[in-house]
Amino acid sequence: MSLELDERQHAMLAEMGVRLFQPHSHPGRIDGTPPEPARQAPPKPALTAGGDVRRPQVVVPVVAQAARAPVQTAEGATSGVELMQWDALAQAVAQCRGCSLCNGRRNTVFGVGDRQADWLIVGEAPGENEDLQGEPFVGQAGLLLDNMLKALGLDRRQKVYIANVLKCRPPGNRNPEPQEVAQCEPFLRRQVELLQPRIILAMGRFAVQALLQSNEPIGKLRGKVHRYNEIPLVVTYHPAYLLRNLPDKAKAWADLCLALEVLQQSGG
Ligand code: URA
Repeated sequence: MSLELDERQHAMLAEMGVRLFQPHSHPGRIDGTPPEPARQAPPKPALTAGGDVRRPQVVVPVVAQAARAPVQTAEGATSGVELMQWDALAQAVAQCRGCSLCNGRRNTVFGVGDRQADWLIVGEAPGENEDLQGEPFVGQAGLLLDNMLKALGLDRRQKVYIANVLKCRPPGNRNPEPQEVAQCEPFLRRQVELLQPRIILAMGRFAVQALLQSNEPIGKLRGKVHRYNEIPLVVTYHPAYLLRNLPDKAKAWADLCLALEVLQQSGG
């Protein structure tokens, strides 16, 4: 794969520890800084992660589709969700009292973005800022996510939809409980059905558990193309994890490139 990158994208990649291999540029320019203006049409730079100068391998084994687990829900809380259109679904989430998380929330966090998006990005659950603003990924992790999207030429409101497994904030940002995930899962499933994204990026272990019913570590699941209801799904690290584990940013960038590659191969 090759990409034309502008200065902002170069800066972002440098921040993520990603190097660009540019065979015909000055040897000092493999550190992610923008190349000098070309005198002749230069070859497009090949994008690589972690300083690897090989051309990235085009995809990757497709692994078996996850089975759909039967959903246990508190009576009535998500009934009829499977037939709802966007507005009704958003209202059902806003009014949901299916588990105890509704008691502590200031806002539900339904999702944000383009309802015709190619990309669906799935995170874990709202944190404090998201609970306050009613929008996913508006804190520090969100800033990183936005920068990663920018590096791909994407924006959270265009061609991208962002949702969480849980629509309400767990107290103190604790991990989601299995019954909370099961309770909320029909909402996410319906969002996917309505959106029909061309690629799903599952960020972090709770997104992976909810979408793939897998408890395997992220490190084992990334680098492959999975499927959720026939839709290609790529696994990557959660941005909050990346903020604490900077060296893994390069792997996350490779995951985004894989997702982009899958999308491009499917004609987009
Ligand atoms: N982490 C998530 O998984 N989702 C958010 O919306 C914010 C932080």
